[in-house]
Amino acid sequence: MRTIVISGASRGIGQATAERFRRAGDHVYNLDVRPPEGRAEGIMWLEADVADWTAVEAAFAIVHRERERIDVAIANAGISVPHGVLELTETDARRVIDVNLLGVLGMWRCAARSMMSASGGVLLATGSINGHRGFPYYADYNAAKAGIAALCRTFALELSPTVRAACVTPGAVLTPMQLAEYTPEMLADIDARIPSRRHAAPEEIADAFFYLASPEARYMTGQELVLDGGEIAGGTTSDHGTGGTGRAESPPAGTARRDPRGRLDPSLR
Ligand SMILES: NC(=O)c1ccc[n+]([C@@H]2O[C@H](COP(=O)([O-])OP(=O)(O)OC[C@H]3O[C@@H](n4cnc5c(N)ncnc54)[C@H](O)[C@@H]3O)[C@@H](O)[C@H]2O)c1
Repeated sequence: MRTIVISGASRGIGQATAERFRRAGDHVYNLDVRPPEGRAEGIMWLEADVADWTAVEAAFAIVHRERERIDVAIANAGISVPHGVLELTETDARRVIDVNLLGVLGMWRCAARSMMSASGGVLLATGSINGHRGFPYYADYNAAKAGIAALCRTFALELSPTVRAACVTPGAVLTPMQLAEYTPEMLADIDARIPSRRHAAPEEIADAFFYLASPEARYMTGQELVLDGGEIAGGTTSDHGTGGTGRAESPPAGTARRDPRGRLDPSLR
């Protein structure tokens, strides 16, 4: 029975992931700024803002007191504030970097200290294909997600072979974050241009985390596991589609990506 600490597990990908580990009999702690939505029996919520390293350390100290060791830490909490580069504010940009990038660094640093003294553990995080490709209106978010891949490589080099570090890099996942930013019409447009023709379910991302934490993934470190339904293989939501026939062709009419306000963005065609 392992001890798992995951951030941002009060809903969405984090909640599905916490539940995946709980079902396997693991002890799961959820570090989140908000209480869990819906049922979360057997998962301990510790209120913490991942941008606040002191609060994260205090939460880890509680876990340590109760469980004595931390086997897996999953830095999943994330936010996005869509805005063009001309409009973004310093406050928003700093917050996005603080939560999405420094939040991972702070949590991993804390977990790594405990894992190195216990001679083992796995550090995981939620990246994004936004870290691989240019996605308009998400400059700070994209940079933070690219930074997570860099953290994976660095932690792996410094901590191998005792501790592994890896991340799951999703494409579009149907969660409250996604539902808050896109209209149903925009979600359908995105689905039409993903080679797998749909968003991932949070449970599919949870399965990837479960694998990465397992002994089956013992040779996996310093790398990303990309689950994107084929998006960055070429048929992306941001520049061209694969039509519906499975082969590259002109994008279907009406499937142009729109900006966060729903306006068609002609520069993406
Ligand atoms: N949904 C997608 O399409 C998608 C795609 C790629 C990557 N991701 C990434 O997956 C992760 C989870 O996203 P989601 O879609 O489940 O989002 P979500 O908004 O549904 O859930 C995010 C959770 O993180 C918590 N959180 C936010 N800020 C926090 C903070 N400062 N400290 C602690 N907890 C905080 C929220 O309260 C919430 O419970 C994020 O890192 C996101 O960037 C999502």
